Amino acid sequence: MAVGDVEIRTLDHDDHTAIDAAARILNAAFADRRPAPWSTYAAARAEVLDVLAPDAICRAAFDQDGRMLGWIAGAPDYGGNVWELHPLAVHPDAQRRGVGRALVADFERQVAARGGVTILLGADDEEGMTTLGNVDLYPNVCEHIAHVRNLRNHPFEFYQKCGFAIVGVVPDANGVGKPDILMAKRVLPVQSDHS
Ligand SMILES: CC(C)(COP(=O)(O)OP(=O)(O)OC[C@H]1O[C@@H](n2cnc3c(N)ncnc32)[C@H](O)[C@@H]1OP(=O)(O)O)[C@@H](O)C(=O)NCCC(=O)NCCS
Repeated sequence: MAVGDVEIRTLDHDDHTAIDAAARILNAAFADRRPAPWSTYAAARAEVLDVLAPDAICRAAFDQDGRMLGWIAGAPDYGGNVWELHPLAVHPDAQRRGVGRALVADFERQVAARGGVTILLGADDEEGMTTLGNVDLYPNVCEHIAHVRNLRNHPFEFYQKCGFAIVGVVPDANGVGKPDILMAKRVLPVQSDHS
């Protein structure tokens, strides 16, 4: 599957087939995490419904046969200047084929169209997947960030490839030695026809 064959469109709150597909993807994409954040279909479905707020962005990628491959959502903060990206999930069978990158690029365009200037996200490391996990980050927290390495396919590197920078870390966010890695990217403004 080439990423060019992917269609990205808004996930509607009354499209129950799409909501079901999004829940199954969320459940499958995070199934190998310990603890798995959405370990049951019911928990994953509740999360999908939760992020489908009226002012949120929620977009899904489909293949040529109409199968959902992944989805992304986000909500405004800081008066709409900043949009928090949460969550992003690509079905395990469709990963590493450009779907995640395409969803992030589409999300950037959606944020820009709403006047947002920054996308912010938190990428937890609860399993020592990076050199920021399983260590005491104090007192030189920024030193640890400067020398971060990916030990086991943590998604922070995916976001770096999408142009995000690590802008901070919340030590012990998920328990001692289990930080949340904060990342952000500036969004280019949408050019008006007259500029
Ligand atoms: C992280 C995720 C969204 C990436 O989606 P994807 O469709 O597999 O990613 P892409 O194919 O668009 O990858 C773009 C680039 O990032 C790289 N990449 C993707 N996932 C990566 C990872 N976990 N670690 C390191 N690099 C990664 C790809 O190799 C590719 O690199 P390249 O441009 O040099 O070829 C997907 O793997 C996923 O859903 N994972 C489980 C859920 C998750 O971790 N979500 C994010 C939580 S914050």
